[in-house]
Amino acid sequence: MRTELSFAPISGIATELLAVLAADTQTAKGPDAKPQLTLLTADPAVQAAAAGVLGTGEYKAGANETVLLHAAAGIAAKRLLIVGLGKLAKATAHSVRDAAGTAVRFAKPRGIREVVVALPEKLGKEPLEATVRAAVEGAFVGDFDADTYRSDRKDQSVQTFTLAVADETDRTAVESAFAEGAIVGESQNFARSLVNEPGNKLTPTILGQRAAMMAQEVGLGWEVHSTEKLHELKMGAFWSVSQGSPEPPALIVLRYEPKGVKDGPVLGLVGKGITFDTGGISIKPADNMEKMKYDMAGGAAMIGAMRAIALLKPKVRVIAIICAAENMPSGTAQKPGDVQTAMSGKTIEIINTDAEGRLVLADGLTYARQLGATHLIDAATLTGAISVALGKINAGAFSNDDAAYGKFEAALAISGEKFWRLPLGDAYADLIKSDISDIKNTGGRWGGAIIAAEFLHVFAEDTPWIHLDIAGLAWVEDSRPFIAKGPSGIGVRSILEWVRSYE
Ligand code: BES
Ligand code: MN
Ligand code: ZN
Repeated sequence: MRTELSFAPISGIATELLAVLAADTQTAKGPDAKPQLTLLTADPAVQAAAAGVLGTGEYKAGANETVLLHAAAGIAAKRLLIVGLGKLAKATAHSVRDAAGTAVRFAKPRGIREVVVALPEKLGKEPLEATVRAAVEGAFVGDFDADTYRSDRKDQSVQTFTLAVADETDRTAVESAFAEGAIVGESQNFARSLVNEPGNKLTPTILGQRAAMMAQEVGLGWEVHSTEKLHELKMGAFWSVSQGSPEPPALIVLRYEPKGVKDGPVLGLVGKGITFDTGGISIKPADNMEKMKYDMAGGAAMIGAMRAIALLKPKVRVIAIICAAENMPSGTAQKPGDVQTAMSGKTIEIINTDAEGRLVLADGLTYARQLGATHLIDAATLTGAISVALGKINAGAFSNDDAAYGKFEAALAISGEKFWRLPLGDAYADLIKSDISDIKNTGGRWGGAIIAAEFLHVFAEDTPWIHLDIAGLAWVEDSRPFIAKGPSGIGVRSILEWVRSYE
């Protein structure tokens, strides 16, 4: 998708589709408070063209609600699409992100290859740059579809996305926000394209190659290791997950070392990269098992975030570690009851071979600390229990450090991604004490997502650390107006902003 920025009057832009935003400005409540529709552009020709449909009451400008007009008088665009933002008082840059995505997704199945979105002229207290950036991100997010392997796939990608900005007061700020939005949106889609790949097309080795190719392109340092290195580093927990598969594991290391930054924090990004999770000997039921190709979404989020970091160049050192393996049952697979020695020296009794994500992350966290990480963040599709706790509305977040988490919360305000912090605590940690070894890899039925977090906590120790359990949100189950069914790319934007906050 090509992107362009335009400061021209929107009614003069000759294009296939011009999208403008509308909102409900009614502030009164109660049964008589009818929606009061306002078009968020001052362009008189667009105002005149939209007046009819806005006056009828058939269109209510609900969030991402659309109405299409053809060949409107005084407008050079062939089509005028009105996209709703819902109540104006509640609209934010995040609503604009979704609205831009909605415009792109409206165009795609209709064979429309050009989309112009007119940015609202004023949106509450939102700084203009935030809405510009969000709009571009949303356009990229909307442009992605998961149908890569369909033979009848017509390339429905939008060719040109133009953002029309009326406010010219700070042109350079708008231009850089625009460029930033494109980098972030593309990086999120890069992560989604990895998550979308099936297990046979994306083995740990291939994930390593994809990460290396990307690193080469954007100028990151990289290494991809396999079984031998795992043995050398004594990564007994990580290796134990891979031992049941003929596909070798991949220990992917990406390094971002900005010139002239010699001290200050080193941020360690650790991602779960299980390219397929059968459960191992504690095998999963067949229903929905095909979804377990997305069990590397945490790793993909880190790879996507590193791409954006390399291009946006914050002045802080970052190292990413993705622990990639296939979790398979076989004659060489690990068994319930086995005891593994993790890289840190801690011994782990394997109760359930399906609790494999925490095993690979245990060694990933230890390695990140050994490589000098002063602050850690991990992302993983770690537990089904996180969806039981939070539904598919919020992803889970955990932290042993309020300062690091405070920065993450600030990052969420920029990214618009939804995470909810859950507690840690010794009483939970007690549940993973083992009779035979230091700890065991499961701790009973209740509070499963917290127990998994406490397992990771054993390896993060007192290094400031954030754990993101994205199992419930890494896959969009039903398409929405602004995002296709399939991989969501959750985490990329928030992790990126968290990193930038340490600049
Ligand atoms: N990859 C799964 C978690 C998962 C579940 C991700 C659903 C996405 C959607 C993880 O490896 C797993 O199997 N977790 C087990 C842990 C249990 C054995 C303690 C789970 O959640 O059932
Ligand atoms: Mn599992
Ligand atoms: Zn898993």
